[in-house]
Amino acid sequence: MDLEFTEEQIMIRQSARDYATRELSQDVIERDEKQEYPDRHIKNLADLGFMGMMVDPKYDGAGMDTVSYVLALEEICKVDASVGVIMSVNNSLVCWGLEEYGNEEQKEKYLKPLARGEITGAFLLSEPEAGSDATSQRTTAPVTGDHYLLNGTKNWITNGSKASVYLVMAQTDKEKGHRGINTFIVERDTPGVSVAPHENKMGMRSSDTVSVMFTDVKVPVENRLGADGFGFKFAMKTLDGGRIGIAAQALGLASGAMERSVKYSKERKAFGTEIANHQAIAFMLADMAIKVEASRDLSLKAAWLRDQGKSYSTASAVAKVFASEAAMWVTTQAVQIHGGYGYVKEYHVERMMRDAKLTEIYEGTSEIMRIIISRDLIKD
Ligand code: CAA
Repeated sequence: MDLEFTEEQIMIRQSARDYATRELSQDVIERDEKQEYPDRHIKNLADLGFMGMMVDPKYDGAGMDTVSYVLALEEICKVDASVGVIMSVNNSLVCWGLEEYGNEEQKEKYLKPLARGEITGAFLLSEPEAGSDATSQRTTAPVTGDHYLLNGTKNWITNGSKASVYLVMAQTDKEKGHRGINTFIVERDTPGVSVAPHENKMGMRSSDTVSVMFTDVKVPVENRLGADGFGFKFAMKTLDGGRIGIAAQALGLASGAMERSVKYSKERKAFGTEIANHQAIAFMLADMAIKVEASRDLSLKAAWLRDQGKSYSTASAVAKVFASEAAMWVTTQAVQIHGGYGYVKEYHVERMMRDAKLTEIYEGTSEIMRIIISRDLIKD
């Protein structure tokens, strides 16, 4: 793996860093408290090309690579991981899936405005009784003439109330098991689509998370994405890339919390010296640096493999599980280093700790990542 960044990659990282420190930092605490969606920031990030980062310019994307995507996400999430997840879902789960498996009409109609960031998209796989066990889809979509009839409930949907376009996984033919699952492009304002109130979450509070219900929703046959029965594999392949985004998010949380801890421990004095000079604190900082560095290398490795056209399924699971667990550890220690100040909102690290927990859960729990990794390890 080449660890030397190109000038373009460095420029993209700098532009993300500038936006995050100058703009996101201004209202991040308030948005977290009020669970307020960052409309203004999403529009600005779209202007920077960050909502369709990896989409080919011929579909109005920014044409950047996955390494640049990781670099940008780390910077955004150092300051505000809620904005990072909105960006990550739009880029990895929606734009990528449409570009890779959509036909020209679908790309023209849906991918282009999504890549321009004029609208956002959501990825609807999870259900009340199908989270980790994603083949157990209860949402049904039998075909009748020129349309599929969609019925069911999806939950934990990031961007669910704000998105204009949904990619929905549903069971078309139960007899065929996972080979009977399809993915559909569903417009949010189609009759029969309804959205539940926002979840009152512990962390990632300014991202939009809801359940979405479908009642006799007619989806035109031309809105099926990919070949008949490809829906489950579509979801798995898309999530392989999504997990690189979550790893980068976790990395941003860890590196952001580490930077705050270093700064604080060089300012705060106890027992006659800055607390950074006490070995108990210095060792914590060193362990943070080790975990951040390893998370960054694993995230970039998965991104690099993808950019090289190599297999990255296991690498993205490794990056995701390592970086999310590292983020949980680093942010928890960051609160500890800040003492009482770490427990109040102004110092940011308590929010980062709450946000970090979700990176161990969504787009595949740590347990699911270990299943993916161990299956690869023991396969013949
Ligand atoms: N790429 C391509 N194909 C894949 C694949 C991959 N990464 N993973 C599995 N498949 C294929 C298999 O080869 C198999 O195909 P065949 O039958 O043709 O051989 C088929 O898919 C079924 O695979 P498995 O038998 O391995 O399926 P399983 O039931 O054992 O499940 C799993 C595997 C890894 C546990 C999977 O269910 C999984 O990833 N679960 C977690 C789901 C998840 O991440 N949910 C989060 C949803 S998104 C979200 O969080 C919301 C949001 O808004 C952020």
